[in-house]
Amino acid sequence: MFSLQGKAVVVTGGGRGIGRAIADAMARCGAAVVITGRSSETLDAAAAQLRESGAEVLALAADITRAKDIDRIVAETLARFGRIDGWVNNAGSADPDDVGPLLSIREDQWDRVVDLNLKWTFFAAQAAARAMRDGGGSIVNISSRSASYPNPGTGHYGAAKAGVENLTRTMAAEWGHLKIRVNAVAPGVVMTEELAKTLNTESRIRRQAETVPMQRIGRPDDIGPLCAFLVSDEASWTTGAVIPVNGGSIVPLGYLSYLHRVNRDIG
Ligand SMILES: NC(=O)c1ccc[n+]([C@@H]2O[C@H](COP(=O)([O-])OP(=O)(O)OC[C@H]3O[C@@H](n4cnc5c(N)ncnc54)[C@H](OP(=O)(O)O)[C@@H]3O)[C@@H](O)[C@H]2O)c1
Repeated sequence: MFSLQGKAVVVTGGGRGIGRAIADAMARCGAAVVITGRSSETLDAAAAQLRESGAEVLALAADITRAKDIDRIVAETLARFGRIDGWVNNAGSADPDDVGPLLSIREDQWDRVVDLNLKWTFFAAQAAARAMRDGGGSIVNISSRSASYPNPGTGHYGAAKAGVENLTRTMAAEWGHLKIRVNAVAPGVVMTEELAKTLNTESRIRRQAETVPMQRIGRPDDIGPLCAFLVSDEASWTTGAVIPVNGGSIVPLGYLSYLHRVNRDIG
């Protein structure tokens, strides 16, 4: 029903994982797509595939944790397409070396995780909004189910995503009069190449799926279409929303495992 024909959309971290599927959904709806990330090789491969489907694609190697790189994404997108209608803040993660129980988290681990997922999501959104100031636009922040629940082992990541959701609501409130909409999408566990490195056995996958009413874990393609809708004109009265996409799951497996372990240890 909706179309993104004539729109230009930036997807940070658009070269792989969920971002890749978001870029694909935007392209399938007719948008010109800008994909960014640190690895040129990954971006070039993704761009080549997106172009095969007829999409106009710009691949920009950029580190989202550098202000100059964010400015360059804006400048090069405007130079190529003359507009920015949509911006998806998807780049984010928590490196396995930077996570652990809260009692042992170091300041440098905290900074890397919270800076990438919260600080730079904000400054990227600010840069996007400044570029959209004259014509309006739509910003989509990729949060996580982790924002809403305890996250034993990745507490600072959950806190950063909770911050993203709160900022999403404030940005929506402050920028509505500029016709800039800001929404967040909060996925549950979604299988990506990266996650497959740890969620790598049938039994682990099954245990995850057992916490999901829809009886499976997510696929990157589960996330893209909603992001495309949020960028479309049909979503023009949707702003400040945080939309879960998680197969109905509200109990993270990590939380359950943690409780079972503690109960076993003290019992
Ligand atoms: N997968 C899940 O289960 C899940 C669940 C809930 C929420 N999420 C959220 O969904 C988003 C995508 O996650 P994913 O699972 O697809 O992650 P992923 O497979 O690890 O991919 C992360 C993406 O972010 C980019 N990125 C990371 N650091 C960056 C930096 N400093 N500058 C620029 N780009 C950077 C990566 O590209 P380069 O490495 O090339 O820079 C890559 O494209 C994240 O915000 C994540 O928190 C994921």
